[in-house]
Amino acid sequence: MTAAKKKNTSNLLNDYHLLSFDSLDSTNEEAKRLARSGGGHGAVIWAKKQSEGKGRLGRSWLSSEGNLFVSVLLQPDKEMADLAQLSFVAAIAVIDAIAPMLPDKNSLKTKWPNDILLANRKLGGILLESFRTETSDKPWVVVGVGINVDNYPPRTEFPATCLKEAGVELVSAKIILSRFIHHFIERYNQWNNKSFAPIRKDWLNHAWNLNKKITARLPDSEMEGVFEGINTSGSLTLKLASGKKQIIHAADVYAPS
Ligand code: BTN
Repeated sequence: MTAAKKKNTSNLLNDYHLLSFDSLDSTNEEAKRLARSGGGHGAVIWAKKQSEGKGRLGRSWLSSEGNLFVSVLLQPDKEMADLAQLSFVAAIAVIDAIAPMLPDKNSLKTKWPNDILLANRKLGGILLESFRTETSDKPWVVVGVGINVDNYPPRTEFPATCLKEAGVELVSAKIILSRFIHHFIERYNQWNNKSFAPIRKDWLNHAWNLNKKITARLPDSEMEGVFEGINTSGSLTLKLASGKKQIIHAADVYAPS
């Protein structure tokens, strides 16, 4: 355990149990350590702050107290290739948890691949990490979720916001955690028992700039086109000016300038 002070363990619904920490390096890292040391499906790791919070594409995630940092460790009976869908499961659970608290529910959007926007600013993000351990045939996945409840980093490339700034004052990270976990369990069961289709549909219903022009910034190029949807692997379909459909697996997307 790195720089971690274990605080509490409590049972949640069904297979799920909550491990609370005052501080961790990263809740995703703690979840991976847990999987490698005999921990099981359904561990929910929550820290009040992180010293080495991780974002997508090797970025860091500023993690000061007041915001939500949580990771769920899972070992679904699915193929490794299907696990990417869990990022959309988590995004929809965030929407379910937060939209009812907002005066304008439509201001909350899912943004490909794994962001949550509020009034066109980044409210949260999801970091999915899948891996195998020597002791098990089934792959593991950690679904890490960060939500800006009380504060947000200034001067980010994509502007950020937090719930407090949006006028949701009487709320804490703990309240958002319990709402998120409740909806995540529901949405996870929906995905696990049925298929990706209902999750994909709900995600697209909330999607930022669907059927509009977007710019996809890849490591060494940029592409502009109409954002037509996502496939079952969670990749984005872009219709280029030439009419050609381009599948994009990893990129940052923006409204064209
Ligand atoms: C992103 O938008 O780049 C994804 C950010 C994910 C941040 C969360 S906070 C909880 C979990 N632990 C981490 O170190 N990262 C994720």
